[in-house]
Amino acid sequence: MGWFCCQGKSSKKSVAEEDYRDSLDQKPTNFTATDSVKVDFKVNGNKEDGSKGDQLALDVKSLNLKEEVSQDRKDNGNRAQTFSFNELEAATGNFRVDCFLGEGGFGKVYKGHLERINQVVAIKQLDPNGLQGIREFVVEVLTLSLADHTNLVKLIGFCAEGEQRLLVYEYMPLGSLEDHLLDIRPGRKPLDWNTRMKIAAGAARGLEYLHDKMKPPVIYRDLKCSNILLGEGYHPKLSDFGLAKVGPSGDKTHVSTRVMGTYGYCAPDYAMTGQLTFKSDIYSFGVVLLELITGRKAIDHTKPAKEQNLIAWTCPQYSAW
Ligand SMILES: Nc1ncnc2c1ncn2[C@@H]1O[C@H](COP(=O)(O)OP(=O)(O)OP(=O)(O)O)[C@@H](O)[C@H]1O
Ligand SMILES: [Mg+2]
Repeated sequence: MGWFCCQGKSSKKSVAEEDYRDSLDQKPTNFTATDSVKVDFKVNGNKEDGSKGDQLALDVKSLNLKEEVSQDRKDNGNRAQTFSFNELEAATGNFRVDCFLGEGGFGKVYKGHLERINQVVAIKQLDPNGLQGIREFVVEVLTLSLADHTNLVKLIGFCAEGEQRLLVYEYMPLGSLEDHLLDIRPGRKPLDWNTRMKIAAGAARGLEYLHDKMKPPVIYRDLKCSNILLGEGYHPKLSDFGLAKVGPSGDKTHVSTRVMGTYGYCAPDYAMTGQLTFKSDIYSFGVVLLELITGRKAIDHTKPAKEQNLIAWTCPQYSAW
């Protein structure tokens, strides 16, 4: 991919950056569809690189290097702390059912209170049999350790003890945009127009930060309603950076990679060629914007055939504008 021009230099910084680049450049295995079906488009023939043993080596190596990345860069006050498994068990009352917030491809998410920092947090536990793996865990930790923006969820810390992999985030009291827009509980009011636009603007700022302000710039690859978390006053924050990739460098326009993402949000050109660009994220943002405007899901199998794909259903409207 060639993002860093300092390859071969032996300074701590270049080694740390190389490893950060390398871990963001791993080829994860699975495509997470909205219906949780694993789909793997081997579009450009990229082979999955690494057994579980290799993944563990990468994990340990990268987590050690995280400290070096932080030391060499300006401390943005966002350095992830390490927690013991016992601490996280205690925080969630041994992962009690009433602390359960939800579940995604990575594993289950619990609400907890961490004594050491006296803070309410969300704790995500890697499911060893789940759709995602250690690679996503490492990329998440590295990306969020280098990021600091009001529209990106804060990673407070992590636990990598034995086979356990857990991520500790700031707790987002209003849950995800999906809960408010697409899967509205009975009795919950639909979002008003101003709130929808505020969420869209905040998500756009988070994306702009990843693309234009982060060093190195990052392609998110997983923008969707369930990954936009909401704080007090519906303040939106992007979450889940396990699929993130360092963007193309120099005069390159794309990164060649195995196609990953969520069905319905994935840019068709990327899905067909495996060539990932910053615009792939903009496409996903457009899908989220359409969901905000219409209140419909990107893919909805309960609708009549012609209305199941939101993009296809709205397309004829564009020519009318
Ligand atoms: N920091 C957080 N604060 C509060 N709730 C959270 C937090 N992170 C996740 N959740 C909740 O946990 C649930 C699962 O989230 P998770 O990100 O694991 O899965 P997902 O986004 O639904 O799917 P995917 O694995 O495709 O990203 C969601 O309902 C989300 O609202
Ligand atoms: Mg998510």
